[in-house]
Amino acid sequence: MTDTTFTPRVFSGIKPSGGLQLGNYLGAIKRFVGMQGQMETVYCVVDMHAITVWQDPAELAKATREVAAGYLAAGLDPKKSILFNQSQVSAHAELGWIFNCVARVGWMNRMTQFKDKAGSNAEKHSLGLYAYPALMAADILLYHATHVPVGEDQKQHVELTRDIATKFNHDYKVDFFPVTTPVIDGPATRVMNLRDGTKKMSKSGESDMERINMTDDADKIAKKFKKAKTDPEPLPETVEGLADRPEARNLVEIYAALNDVTPADVMAEYAGAQWGRFKPALADLAVSKLAPISSEMARFMDDPAEIDRILGDGSARARQIAEPILRKTYDIVGMLRS
Ligand code: TYM
Repeated sequence: MTDTTFTPRVFSGIKPSGGLQLGNYLGAIKRFVGMQGQMETVYCVVDMHAITVWQDPAELAKATREVAAGYLAAGLDPKKSILFNQSQVSAHAELGWIFNCVARVGWMNRMTQFKDKAGSNAEKHSLGLYAYPALMAADILLYHATHVPVGEDQKQHVELTRDIATKFNHDYKVDFFPVTTPVIDGPATRVMNLRDGTKKMSKSGESDMERINMTDDADKIAKKFKKAKTDPEPLPETVEGLADRPEARNLVEIYAALNDVTPADVMAEYAGAQWGRFKPALADLAVSKLAPISSEMARFMDDPAEIDRILGDGSARARQIAEPILRKTYDIVGMLRS
């Protein structure tokens, strides 16, 4: 079965744990916004995923609004896209259970993100953290989503979603769930840590200097880029010259993504440049693109009632798509409804 039998629909989500960082913006939100209008777009704040590790309840509610504010500040139009938080649509949890019964333990054991997060201490982690990718498959397939834009780190989870869809269709002899395509394109699908170009930028890194938070003001953004780790060489002449230079490559890719150009375009302008020229240019570009978003986020956060209204409206629209798909799934599985 191919996904050509399904109406094209985009689904993606972001966890409200900690704040948003530049990787979330360039690897996810900016690309989500770019897909609006091309096909139906459904974007979620996945609060049920966040509690796979401990979250303070008041902080979780705040982080949920903050991710919603990030989406809106970056240009998500709630008239063009459905924007909602996962726990308001209970069908996610219900389909998640069914997929827990489709996915195999062997498949879950291969998930590198669980291994990275749980480390050698897996037994102390929640069962939810282990089962999380099956819930992610439910998020996607509940909308019969055909396209899932994500950063590189989520590729394996989208591949698992394909395996779950294929096994469900095979076991129940149906063509019901689409085999979803992960959309991982553009220069910034893996934004790296500013202090160590071999590590992914994340919300949970030790030092604040290693990431750009979407709430950072102009001074902080400029300072962090100016202090970003680099090597002693000037920029190379070509993109190929960045291959073994993780920090240099990361800064070039961030510049390209912020400016909507390719890394080759950046090299055409800065081939052979010293860091003393490139870093201030990157800092200025980043401030000009990110500072308006952070101030717009702050404006949304000043009106939590409006965010809640948008999420409530989005949840009602999400339920209209999700509930018939869940009912049909129950019918296929043989769950009696009376
Ligand atoms: P999360 O919340 O960790 O990240 C949200 C999105 O941001 C991308 N991302 C990055 N991209 C580039 N460089 C980085 N350094 C970087 N850091 C984060 C992630 O790849 C992701 O696209 N499991 C998911 C959330 C989820 C989901 C879904 C996604 C739940 N259900 C259904 C898609 C479809 C997660 O934890 O993402």
